[in-house]
Amino acid sequence: MGEDLAKVQQHFANFAQGHAHLPLYHRISAAAATDDEVAGLLLAARPGQARPVLLLAALHDLVLRRPDLPAARWYASVVGRETLPTGDPWPEVRTTVLDHRDELTEVIATRTTQTNEVNRTVYLTAGLTRAAAGLPDTPLALVELGASAGLLLALDRYDTALTRDDAPSTRYGDPASPVRCGGEDRSPTPLGLAIPPIVARAGLDLDPVDLHDAKAVRWLEACLWPDVAGRVERFTAAVDLVRPAPPPVVRGDLVDDLAEVVGQYADDPATHLVVYTSWSLTYVDKARRPAVAETLARLAASGRPVSWLTAEPAGCVPGIPALQAGLDDDSTVLGLRTWRHGDERTPAVLGTAHPHGERVCLTPWNRPSTDGVQEP
Ligand SMILES: C[S@@+](CC[C@H](N)C(=O)[O-])C[C@H]1O[C@@H](n2cnc3c(N)ncnc32)[C@H](O)[C@@H]1O
Repeated sequence: MGEDLAKVQQHFANFAQGHAHLPLYHRISAAAATDDEVAGLLLAARPGQARPVLLLAALHDLVLRRPDLPAARWYASVVGRETLPTGDPWPEVRTTVLDHRDELTEVIATRTTQTNEVNRTVYLTAGLTRAAAGLPDTPLALVELGASAGLLLALDRYDTALTRDDAPSTRYGDPASPVRCGGEDRSPTPLGLAIPPIVARAGLDLDPVDLHDAKAVRWLEACLWPDVAGRVERFTAAVDLVRPAPPPVVRGDLVDDLAEVVGQYADDPATHLVVYTSWSLTYVDKARRPAVAETLARLAASGRPVSWLTAEPAGCVPGIPALQAGLDDDSTVLGLRTWRHGDERTPAVLGTAHPHGERVCLTPWNRPSTDGVQEP
């Protein structure tokens, strides 16, 4: 027990060290690193889940439910960013944690963190532009694997801007949308965004989040970090926009159930099937990952254009080569595998991105030939 607690406290210390830019979460994790009672709550977590973000999410969920609790006034998601107090949040946070230790322990023991990061449209739009480059007139059928609540499937309903110092912003989506996404384009030359209309869309997830289930949506929100300006606000705006008519997200495994979901929602051979994974393949056992491409190869055998756009950590996606020099050293690697006229083309690293879309950097891109093949 003593050794486990020491490990948990080391995790808190590491988190604090890596997140000095987050005033609230840095303070809580730095204090928990030397507080046996608070850090000890994480010992209730399931094997492999005793991570600081789980305790931080459980506490965030508590204050979202109970804005009257002393700790709540330190959360921008509860009181608004403009009215955040100054000073030390730890005494009130600690009191709130210890007064609600049973409730928090229950959440920690039964849940895992889950997210749906809307600002990933920054790199998805860039990646979709490249996937569709040789097929500008072919509408898209989008299938997201590990779609969570399906918020990224509504990317054309948001306003996404790629900004640069040396050129005007490039935008995609609905300029009047209440959901504003944005990130810096660090590519050597400005990226254009050109995505054919999306005429079919569906998601697949082991644990899909129903946007009409307030408790489940609150947990997704609780897993976001309130210190990051705009992140919670963007999420809640997207939930409000998409909730009346959400895209279907089927419960299932992204390897075993891919073909069935495509058959059900995205089987029109006149469309370009684009399957994408964004921080989801990494949760799948390595040995099972190649089966995604095998299924896509079968779906492409008829000659229908098929693409697999990936946004995952380096080395995660089978067939996607190692990183190329000259890219930003960011943790999300954008990859593309394509099947045209029944055959797979050479897989490509498109570039890298910040995991929440704060920036994207794509490699220079030669004009694709007319059949959508990327020229070397
Ligand atoms: C970190 S979230 C990313 C969600 C979304 N793609 C995004 O970028 O915001 C990972 C998601 O993958 C799902 N997931 C993990 N393993 C899966 C599997 N084998 N099959 C289907 N979904 C899976 C999880 O339930 C979770 O919703």
